[in-house]
Amino acid sequence: MIILSVESTCDETAVALVRDGREVLTDQIFSQARLHAVYGGVVPEIASRSHVEVISQLADRAVAAVGISKREIDAVAVSYAPGLIGAVLVGVSFAKGAASALGVPLIPVHHIRGHMAANYLAYPELEPPYVCLAISGGNSLIVHVRDYTDMEVLGATRDDAAGECFDKVARVLGLGYPGGKPVDELAKTGDDRKYTLPVAQVEGRPYDMSFSGLKTAVINLVHHASQTGGELDRASLCASFQYAVSQALVPRAIAAARETGCVRLVAAGGVAANSRIRADLTAAATEAGLTLYIPPLSLCGDNAAMVGAQGYYEFLAGHTAGSGLNARASLELDRDDWER
Ligand code: KG4
Repeated sequence: MIILSVESTCDETAVALVRDGREVLTDQIFSQARLHAVYGGVVPEIASRSHVEVISQLADRAVAAVGISKREIDAVAVSYAPGLIGAVLVGVSFAKGAASALGVPLIPVHHIRGHMAANYLAYPELEPPYVCLAISGGNSLIVHVRDYTDMEVLGATRDDAAGECFDKVARVLGLGYPGGKPVDELAKTGDDRKYTLPVAQVEGRPYDMSFSGLKTAVINLVHHASQTGGELDRASLCASFQYAVSQALVPRAIAAARETGCVRLVAAGGVAANSRIRADLTAAATEAGLTLYIPPLSLCGDNAAMVGAQGYYEFLAGHTAGSGLNARASLELDRDDWER
């Protein structure tokens, strides 16, 4: 089954063709990062307008790259939530038009389910059940994936997402947008114990996370240094920040795998590209006797192949949408509301 898949929830426009949920035939991605960098973050209207400009071209390019006829496309899948509403609407409208024109089913995909499914593309042997640490620019979740479309959120951030926190820290340090990669790079030459930063616990909710206190602590350190003329070791601040983020994520993910009896631990999302988090997850999973799956860097960030991967399993579960499908700015990952 060949699925044409569409992603436009934030600042990447992408169209892919994926066979049977596991094989990427092509993944055409246009990153808008350059358009937003000057503003230090994503500007929603610029994002929507840019999606409109490039999405049709990307689809044509995808079909041409694989050399198939449009008649060979069996379904269209789209990231319909969560995301910047104007941006998601572009992808949903395009996907509805494409499904209608091709006369094939339309499959709505939760964007974070897509991130998790990126692992199916990289690891043919991976199957549920597993625990997933899903960490992106807008979400931080610990999920028990019982089956391809049957999942339970065990924990979530109470405030900022991990990626949002990386972007804010990068901004206050003047490292540009998006901030995850430059913080990761600078941290490599720093001492991760130089600054003691808070790792929050949420009472009674062991898998919930909170990153706003950590973000504020970093901002306060930077402001204090600039106001007093004190020394600021930026590399060590980045390293200490990453250490704190990793401490907030890794032990929780391991504990969730233990509690649910899962032997597989999966990571997903843009922040899963972080070298410190990857190293800590690898060490902790080995120590706990878990098999760890982390997508290659090319599949951590937003892409459309991951939407096609999850779309295949949503289709097998009968989760298709009618012509009234709408975009959603927010949607719980484990909600089952397919009667639309
Ligand atoms: O998954 P993603 O591409 O988009 C969303 O679905 O949100 O994630 C983007 C986030 C950004 O916050 C970006 O700074 C972060 O992933 N990121 C990283 C790294 N590379 C990207 N965070 C930490 N370390 C990295 N190496």
